[in-house]
Amino acid sequence: MQVTEYKPKIVAFCCNWCSYAGADLAGNNRLNYPDNIKIIRVPCSCRVNPMFILRAFQRGADGVILCGCHPGDCHYTSGNYYTRRRMALLFSMLSYLGIEKERTRVEWVSAAEGAKFAATMNEFSAQVAALGENKRLEDLRCKP
Ligand code: FES
Repeated sequence: MQVTEYKPKIVAFCCNWCSYAGADLAGNNRLNYPDNIKIIRVPCSCRVNPMFILRAFQRGADGVILCGCHPGDCHYTSGNYYTRRRMALLFSMLSYLGIEKERTRVEWVSAAEGAKFAATMNEFSAQVAALGENKRLEDLRCKP
């Protein structure tokens, strides 16, 4: 009998200038990170409206990670400062709704940190897998 390993569905929003380039570097260096992570490239981390994260959970994501440039390095000067404040508010609201805080994360990854990108994704995927499927906010109309 074959046992299939549970793989959580994870959405990773990555800013174009640092984190997406970090993901590229991880790929170029052949560093492994789980294939259940779906990367969505955004111009800046502050482009991620909190509704995008709620929508990802509604559509069946088990975890959502948002990656951007390190503080002070944002291509648009201060975008990631807005992100940091916005996500702190959103995450506290999510915990009020019963979504474990381990299902969400903000991480700063530069274009030179391919190894950090891969390590972060491996660690986040394992953390979300340990929590199991996310049933909160799930919209059953989105089920195939
Ligand atoms: Fe990367 Fe703003 S451009 S966080």
